Amino acid sequence: MRESRSNEPTVVLGGTGKIGRRVVRLLRERGVPVRVASRSGERRFDWTDRTTWEPALRGARSVYLVYLPDLASPDAAPRLREVGELAVSQGAERLVFQSGGGWPEAVPAEEAVRKAGAAWTVLRPAWFAQNFSEDLFLEPLRRGEVRLSAGDGGEPFVDARDVAEMAVAALTEDVHAGRVYELSGPESLSFGDAVARIARASGRDIRYVSLTPERFESELVRTGVPAEFVALELGRFAAVRSGAYAEVSDGVRRVLGREPRSFAEYVRETAATGVWANAG
Ligand SMILES: NC(=O)c1ccc[n+]([C@@H]2O[C@H](COP(=O)([O-])OP(=O)(O)OC[C@H]3O[C@@H](n4cnc5c(N)ncnc54)[C@H](OP(=O)(O)O)[C@@H]3O)[C@@H](O)[C@H]2O)c1
Repeated sequence: MRESRSNEPTVVLGGTGKIGRRVVRLLRERGVPVRVASRSGERRFDWTDRTTWEPALRGARSVYLVYLPDLASPDAAPRLREVGELAVSQGAERLVFQSGGGWPEAVPAEEAVRKAGAAWTVLRPAWFAQNFSEDLFLEPLRRGEVRLSAGDGGEPFVDARDVAEMAVAALTEDVHAGRVYELSGPESLSFGDAVARIARASGRDIRYVSLTPERFESELVRTGVPAEFVALELGRFAAVRSGAYAEVSDGVRRVLGREPRSFAEYVRETAATGVWANAG
């Protein structure tokens, strides 16, 4: 009979990020042993430094995989395959991969995780609502102007808390093995609508400026974004403009048995924290 593995950790790669830290908190609340692995985590793990991989994965029972810097880069699939196989060689039985919703460029990375040799689950979240309060859109909002080439394309922003709950379900329940879940919020919004809602809720005048792709590209280059990532960003916003990501999906309801949190709820709660107050 197999010995109990209840002391072996779930390794959360990217466990300090927007989804990862919520996954860590939820697992620990359930008493699941967790190892937070990232460049600044409890255990150092760096996708660009192979020497950090094995120590981070040692003895893992399951692994949550968050890949940086970009799922679409050619390094993503081979690194995910190697890390996945290494995790399996350490005894990991489950791999849960944070991919991206409607991103054909992430499919090779998903394939790599699926072939690593463990039970796998792929999460394909839409853009996170929390990008507006914990990431790249926060400073522009504080300054009062968000400049993007998203046009009027819709995006069904998903709440990071829902993605984290989905991750925990996939890490702790056998029924999700071999499944791919598309995760979105309950409605699609343009970036202009999203910014307008945040402006209203925080009582501020914040402009959304719709840039041409050429203008967006020159602004990204000017702010020092490396050429490789400029191309990826342009491609992603072209897809937003075309409406390619706009479809709402039902993964959250199917797995968690309730409606996903709405953008309105996220905006109401987040505005109350004062995070969108003027940069001064
Ligand atoms: N943001 C979105 O709206 C969105 C939507 C769908 C899918 N995704 C995908 O989700 C993934 C994570 O995005 P995110 O927005 O959740 O990122 P995030 O909140 O910035 O979290 C990134 C995490 O990865 C770690 N990290 C960064 N570079 C690393 C490296 N070289 N090696 C190891 N760990 C590294 C960070 O911690 P340290 O700094 O400590 O290393 C952090 O814990 C990406 O693959 C992205 O494509 C994002």
